[in-house]
Amino acid sequence: MSTYLNRVFNENALSGLTRIPEASVDLIIADPPYSLGKDYGNDSDKLDTAAYLSWMEQWIDAILPKLKPSGSLYIFLTWRYSPEIFVMLKQRLTMMNEIIWDRRVPSMGGSVRSYTSVHDTIGFFVKEKGYYFDLDAVRIPYDAETKKARSRSRFVGAKWLEVGYNPKDLWSVSRVHKSDPERADHPTQKPLEIIERMIKASCPQGGLVLDPFMGSGTTAVAASRTGRQFVGFELNRDYCDIIEQRLASPEALPVANNNQPTEPIRAKLSAKTA
Ligand SMILES: C[S@@+](CC[C@H](N)C(=O)[O-])C[C@H]1O[C@@H](n2cnc3c(N)ncnc32)[C@H](O)[C@@H]1O
Repeated sequence: MSTYLNRVFNENALSGLTRIPEASVDLIIADPPYSLGKDYGNDSDKLDTAAYLSWMEQWIDAILPKLKPSGSLYIFLTWRYSPEIFVMLKQRLTMMNEIIWDRRVPSMGGSVRSYTSVHDTIGFFVKEKGYYFDLDAVRIPYDAETKKARSRSRFVGAKWLEVGYNPKDLWSVSRVHKSDPERADHPTQKPLEIIERMIKASCPQGGLVLDPFMGSGTTAVAASRTGRQFVGFELNRDYCDIIEQRLASPEALPVANNNQPTEPIRAKLSAKTA
């Protein structure tokens, strides 16, 4: 049995990646430090621009050979550095989407000399044309009200009406709040809802997901919950303990599902009837 499967190593990803065989990974989910000066119990988020971009390029070059030809990569970024990093990645992979994660930050004052930033930028990249993508696993079902509103003969039997629609590239999912049952003690924990969508769409059942910057272990938990394997790295020992606790009963974790799938159609309908 492989010794690296379903493990999170308390190790620098750059050295840890040598544990993983080339072309063995179905999906990479990378949520690196954003260079915003956050305290992860280490200096990883405190690099200056030049050092940050050079470090990003270093781990990108170390990780990409691990992807299978059918593999994909999702990377979380901010608008600050996504232009440079997207260019870097586009020289190595094919870019499929720029996904905007709207964190649903409430309006409470905010910046006074610029607009308040309320989104993260996610790049979705693939290695080759024949990449794995299971749309049916992530379709968003229409509710009864919308189905009824689409009952005209031209819509009858339409597959998209029955099975739901393809998620758009704007993902409106609340960040994990301190009071959420899903919350772990990590400053930039990502919602399970987002990571599970990525895994269901881009990793086959039983496939392998690699996350070089595990943080609170959301990728590991999401992989366990969806029947995929995982491997990853995290520098901070305390976060590794949190991951272990979260992995003890991943199915028991309540997932906040605050998607409002048919909101745009509903909005249109109510505008018409107003
Ligand atoms: C943005 S957070 C990841 C959050 C994670 N997605 C979650 O949902 O909890 C980035 C993490 O990467 C870790 N980290 C930074 N540099 C690292 C490195 N070279 N190797 C492994 N982990 C690293 C940090 O300690 C931090 O916990």
